[in-house]
Amino acid sequence: KHPAGAPSPDLARKITKVGIVGAGLMASQFALLFVRKLRVPVVITDIDQERVDKGVAGIRASIDEMQEKGRISRDESNRLKALISGTTDLADFADADWVIEAVFEELGVKQEVFRNVEQVVSAECILATNTSSLSVTAIGSVLENPQRLLGFHFFNPVAVMPLVEVVNTAATDDETLSTAMVVAKTLGKNAVITADAPGFVVNRILAKLLGEAMHAVETGTPFEVVDRATAPFGLPMTPFELLELVGLKVGAHVLDTHHAAFPERFFESEGLHRLADYGKIFDRDAKGKRKGF
Ligand code: CAA
Repeated sequence: KHPAGAPSPDLARKITKVGIVGAGLMASQFALLFVRKLRVPVVITDIDQERVDKGVAGIRASIDEMQEKGRISRDESNRLKALISGTTDLADFADADWVIEAVFEELGVKQEVFRNVEQVVSAECILATNTSSLSVTAIGSVLENPQRLLGFHFFNPVAVMPLVEVVNTAATDDETLSTAMVVAKTLGKNAVITADAPGFVVNRILAKLLGEAMHAVETGTPFEVVDRATAPFGLPMTPFELLELVGLKVGAHVLDTHHAAFPERFFESEGLHRLADYGKIFDRDAKGKRKGF
């Protein structure tokens, strides 16, 4: 049964092929999840062959790693690898039933992606965006059929975090919503249906935490003190570690969109933009373990 608020699972469409736009870190993580759990062909695309090849190679390397750790058999590894492919030609999405994007967090870029995707896919194909905090309604405003668009928002690391926010716009139809709930369940995730409001639910709360931590630094407390002070709160990571995990550019973007939507409640952080340009907060050893600032 679907959770309260979701339409009947009987309305869900069958997914036989998935298209993923973007071959970056987030997109590669959920390409792996889709291929493992849905067991259907997954095609990923990006703006050039180099990015596509890098994305596909990264997913294949993750599959090899799972095999090396004994989590999957050699046969399973080969099966999964055979289901993954890359393309720079959107026409390869023509028979996809589910297309999800994780490209740069800019409204115009995402609109362009979906405008192009809509030209090649069938009218039945569901379109999902992994946006962290842009308006899904605004993304869909360029579509001929905005009723088949919704937000499908994963959390980092995708393989581990159990939640997906399914973002329901005023236009999203019941078949689309129902399919998203079934897909989330098949992926092994707990799905919640959220309104299309800035930051949905989780990022609204995280933006507060991360923004306040940056603001404490910007108003005079050293980084290491804020980091040490927030470590014992029972959170799995300090706010600064979490900012690095989600990506400093993504974090800065999330803060900006919250500040734009609720200027009286959220800070902009110039410091976080500078850190995003610098590329890191912590020094790390070869294994990625943090050494300090
Ligand atoms: N990819 C895949 N698997 C990973 C992983 C990664 N990047 N990082 C950790 N794991 C797996 C490990 O392999 C391990 O799995 P097994 O138990 O099967 O071996 C498991 O996760 C636990 O890992 P560790 O023991 O090494 O480390 P941990 O217990 O400290 O957990 C963590 C790591 C799960 C990342 C934890 O620190 C955590 O939950 N951090 C907070 C993450 C969070 O809040 N994410 C949301 C960010 S917001 C966002 O993403 C949305 C947005 O729009 C900005």
